[in-house]
Amino acid sequence: MSDPDLRVFPSLEAAGRALADEVAGAIGDAVEVNGRATLVLSGGSTPQRLHELLAERDDIRWPRTHVLLGDERFVPHDSPGSNYCMARRSLLDDVPIPPANVHPWRTDLPTPEDAALDMQAELERLFGRDALPRFDVLLLGIGADGHTVSLFPDSPSLAEERRWTLPTLASDEPRKRLTMTLPVLNAARAVHFLVAGADKRAALRRAMGEPEQPEQCPAALVRPTDGTLTWWLDEGAAP
Ligand code: 6PG
Repeated sequence: MSDPDLRVFPSLEAAGRALADEVAGAIGDAVEVNGRATLVLSGGSTPQRLHELLAERDDIRWPRTHVLLGDERFVPHDSPGSNYCMARRSLLDDVPIPPANVHPWRTDLPTPEDAALDMQAELERLFGRDALPRFDVLLLGIGADGHTVSLFPDSPSLAEERRWTLPTLASDEPRKRLTMTLPVLNAARAVHFLVAGADKRAALRRAMGEPEQPEQCPAALVRPTDGTLTWWLDEGAAP
């Protein structure tokens, strides 16, 4: 892999501001060229400020943008652990995006497998069935153990080559998760990791390198096949 595109900032706030500029530009380009933009948000706590910064802008064409989540916890949408709940509170409820353009995981369905199959069908509706979904902007985070979305170390889900979505199990609660798979992540036009804090530094170093056992650091398996990969870090996380 060529040298990673690494951008280090004094704070998560500064990294978020710079990444928000990048996301706004990419959405604008996609709408210009394709008539729509597709944006995948990551979960957890790191992206919340980025979401707020995106919500403050007046240069994003939300009516032409589709928003999805790279993963979800199998909890009700109004649960504090829900990535969709976080995305709504920090971004989606504050921007003029048509409800039909927001595609949450259906955690109200009976099982995680039902929800994963529903999202597969939703992706097929959005992108067709003949090729992998190719997101214009895909935002990711990384756990201290090297996981990204809900692809966890040594998980069989890392070897999935056919399905675009899977149910997985986390070691932490809520254990039942839903995730997009590596083929989908690696089909994106632009993948951006936003990472902050010294607790992520070791995982980040492995993820940006070529670890001998990448299955132990799923973020190291994110290598877009025909897209860009950029790391947006605060100084705490920077290697
Ligand atoms: C999730 C996320 C997950 C997240 C990392 C980092 O559902 O938790 O999608 O992959 O990006 O766990 O989370 P923090 O930003 O909270 O450290």
